[in-house]
Amino acid sequence: MSDYSGGGGGCRRCCCSFILTSGLTALFMWLSLRTSPPVCSIQNFYVPALNKTANDTTNHTIYFDLKLDNENKDKGIYYDNITLTFNYLPNTTLQVANYTARAFYQGHKKSTRRKARLEAVGVPWEAAVAAGYNGTFRVDLATKVRYKIVFWSTKRHKLEVGTTLVVNETGKTVKKKGDRLKSGAPGLGFYGAPVALLVVLSVMVLVFV
Ligand SMILES: *[C@@H]1O[C@H](CO)[C@@H](O)[C@H](O)[C@H]1NC(C)=O
Ligand SMILES: *[C@@H]1O[C@H](CO)[C@@H](O)[C@H](O)[C@H]1NC(C)=O
Ligand SMILES: *[C@@H]1O[C@H](CO)[C@@H](O)[C@H](O)[C@H]1NC(C)=O
Ligand SMILES: *[C@@H]1O[C@H](CO)[C@@H](O)[C@H](O)[C@H]1NC(C)=O
Ligand SMILES: *[C@@H]1O[C@H](CO)[C@@H](O)[C@H](O)[C@H]1NC(C)=O
Ligand SMILES: *[C@@H]1O[C@H](CO)[C@@H](O)[C@H](O)[C@H]1NC(C)=O
Ligand SMILES: *[C@@H]1O[C@H](CO)[C@@H](O)[C@H](O)[C@H]1NC(C)=O
Ligand SMILES: *[C@@H]1O[C@H](CO)[C@@H](O)[C@H](O)[C@H]1NC(C)=O
Repeated sequence: MSDYSGGGGGCRRCCCSFILTSGLTALFMWLSLRTSPPVCSIQNFYVPALNKTANDTTNHTIYFDLKLDNENKDKGIYYDNITLTFNYLPNTTLQVANYTARAFYQGHKKSTRRKARLEAVGVPWEAAVAAGYNGTFRVDLATKVRYKIVFWSTKRHKLEVGTTLVVNETGKTVKKKGDRLKSGAPGLGFYGAPVALLVVLSVMVLVFV
């Protein structure tokens, strides 16, 4: 760093550049290993029983389209079986339907859809109709994902996200662009370990220089 040209100067300079190089390597590695979880959303949620025009509460089918977006620039995602569970609110323990999508692999920057229809069990349809055809469902998604980085894949990361689906008298959700599923815990999650490594390295650099 300084113009110090004593006996230990070369060694010190060498040491500095070593630390700098390893610091940059760590930063580069962190940037290229960093992953972001897929973006999950429910599109086209439709509950015919709550369609006022149809006027048919004997139809207990619910329709949806699960959309999964891998927004990583160069990492594929291996999904384990994906389970979706639907509850009818305000009763958070009243499970009315569930769905499983088989495990699959998704390339980088890809979008995948899984369309399905389920028969809902136990929804108090008459009460929902009486309340102005309003219904609120809670949907929770659970799976585990591994990221494919060039030729190896990471360990499994838990992915648990969910949202509430508010249906109005058209039988569809109020949100037009789909309902994005979010994680309950605002975690460092996927970034935690690399960030910790980077912090440790930065501290080392500060201590040694
Ligand atoms: C609601 O029901 C009516 C009558 O069956 C139908 O024409 C309409 O398309 C339904 N609405 C939706 C959003 O599917
Ligand atoms: C809904 O259907 C029932 C019989 O199935 C009928 O008595 C009622 O008038 C209908 N309501 C509307 C709003 O069309
Ligand atoms: C429920 O409604 C949907 C959409 O209107 C229709 O395609 C389906 O056949 C109905 N199912 C029953 C059991 O009536
Ligand atoms: C919620 O649903 C569960 C399971 O069906 C039932 O045992 C419980 O009584 C319900 N609670 C309320 C407040 O409706
Ligand atoms: C999923 O739904 C099926 C029937 O549709 C039911 O038998 C099963 O118990 C449900 N699974 C869970 C985990 O509740
Ligand atoms: C994944 O789901 C399929 C059917 O949906 C089932 O046959 C298979 O056993 C499941 N695999 C695991 C590991 O749970
Ligand atoms: C039904 O939902 C609409 C819009 O979300 C709201 O304005 C209305 O008050 C609700 N009705 C009932 C009975 O909850
Ligand atoms: C119900 O939601 C749909 C879709 O967002 C919207 O177009 C419609 O105006 C809403 N209807 C009422 C009565 O709130």
